[in-house]
Amino acid sequence: MQRIFSGIQPSGIPTLGNYLGAIRNWVKLQDDHECIYCVVDMHAITVWQDPKLLPIQTRELAASIIACGIDPKRSILFHQSAVRAHAQLAWIFNCVARFGWLARMTQFKDKAGKDRENASAGLFVYPNLMAADILAYHATRVPVGEDQRQHLELANDIAQKFNHDYGVNFFPPIEALILGPAARVMSLRDGTKKMSKSDPSDQSRINLNDDPDTIALKLRRAKTDPLPLPSEPEGLEKRPEARNLVGIYAALADLDVADVLREYGGAGFSRFKEALAELMIAKLAPIAAETRRLLADPATIDAILREGAARAAAIADPIVAEAERLVGFLRA
Ligand code: TYM
Repeated sequence: MQRIFSGIQPSGIPTLGNYLGAIRNWVKLQDDHECIYCVVDMHAITVWQDPKLLPIQTRELAASIIACGIDPKRSILFHQSAVRAHAQLAWIFNCVARFGWLARMTQFKDKAGKDRENASAGLFVYPNLMAADILAYHATRVPVGEDQRQHLELANDIAQKFNHDYGVNFFPPIEALILGPAARVMSLRDGTKKMSKSDPSDQSRINLNDDPDTIALKLRRAKTDPLPLPSEPEGLEKRPEARNLVGIYAALADLDVADVLREYGGAGFSRFKEALAELMIAKLAPIAAETRRLLADPATIDAILREGAARAAAIADPIVAEAERLVGFLRA
């Protein structure tokens, strides 16, 4: 059975993009993989996080992941800072990865923006920590949204360079699993921008805890173009907003984009948006309700995370100890 690893940052409320691009696929993969899912609080602090909010957000995100269908008995669910192996291996990878490789990461360029001098060093070496997350478990398959593809290519480069430099075949190749018609969910206000927890406009995204009225209103206000929907997927080219909404519908309904267009081709957006709102509310309302129910008992969530961390450490510690031995650290 192949081992899966994936992670999500507790830097805000998870969005529809996180759900359709990642968490929903995590749920399906539980049936035929050994799965390890991580709330990556160490990644979150690469940009400022309020220390009072971070533990709350970490717990809330864990509850939301469980509410989406992750079964903490079958899968391992934990938070990153609870397993030291991540930081230990990340340091080694800081010394394997080349400065030039990291400087090419588009997400760093986007997040650091114009004020690059003032970005944290952690934001720059972030992909090394991500590689460590995966490789500390010798995980081979990583379900993510499209925006993480470049980071996973870098993780493979790091694994290969480590193996080459130390003359071993220790770290396996990683396969990115970028699945479904919503691997890149776009902003509701601008079809060329990714839907993101950190967008200043709440209207740009659907949060997993939005109530039905908010979902319906955000969709009604979502940017579109004046044309009716096309009958074929090719007709969505150069129509980013239409493509985004149809992709979201397809993912939520478990259909192909072509099936959705067979049904709605020729329809105007007001009819399509109404159908989309109905479908989205039917899928997301139970998740929000279950998250609220779970959060009424925070001690149980914390116990799940603690137990997950112990199971995670039992896998990662020996692998990282072996990596340290290969590097030549003295075990006196
Ligand atoms: P994060 O927290 O930004 O996002 C978590 C997951 O959600 C996906 N995602 C999206 N998918 C489709 N459309 C969107 N608009 C959208 N926004 C987010 C992301 O691709 C991701 O799969 N670096 C990672 C977290 C991470 C990780 C790892 C992932 C840390 N270590 C190891 C995999 C393996 C991140 O910031 O994800």
